[in-house]
Amino acid sequence: MKRIAIYPGSFDPVTNGHLDIVQRGLYVFDHVIMAILKNPSKKAFFSVEERVDLLKESTKKFKNVEIGTFDGLLVDYAKQCNAVAILRGMRAVSDFEYEFQLALMNRRFNREIQTVFLMTGMRWIYTSSSIIKEAARFDGDITGMVPEIVQHRIKEKMAAINKNLS
Ligand code: PNS
Repeated sequence: MKRIAIYPGSFDPVTNGHLDIVQRGLYVFDHVIMAILKNPSKKAFFSVEERVDLLKESTKKFKNVEIGTFDGLLVDYAKQCNAVAILRGMRAVSDFEYEFQLALMNRRFNREIQTVFLMTGMRWIYTSSSIIKEAARFDGDITGMVPEIVQHRIKEKMAAINKNLS
């Protein structure tokens, strides 16, 4: 039987740090589903559709990666996908408290689905979607931190926002 893991997140946008975790996840699981939370209460930079598109483009090189979206409880979506695990990346100690809380809540809701943490590569330890958006907003160079397509789309979107503001 295929061992499936769900890798959930906002992915607003996907970074090379996320792709590093997927790649590592594929050493452990047969199939990884990257699942974007449809969260209307959180104002996102990219729409869910744009994020799905960016994830699909960025994961083309991986054979056993699928892109999904979900709302409601993550464990319910994981069960629906026949996943045995939830995959999360861990960077610095600062990630720990939130991840610990999330993992224990998920375990409380479904004891059969295990949360598996993978350490991100050292070069991505300080990378996050938020810091990348901030850097891009002030025209900082984000080359090599996100897939090329993401860098391109961020630039396009920032230019459109700035045009509307002027
Ligand atoms: O990339 P993020 O924003 O850190 O991802 C957070 C995410 C999507 C994994 C988390 O918010 C989530 O799973 N939300 C769905 C609702 C849920 O099941 N929450 C956990 C138990 S209350």
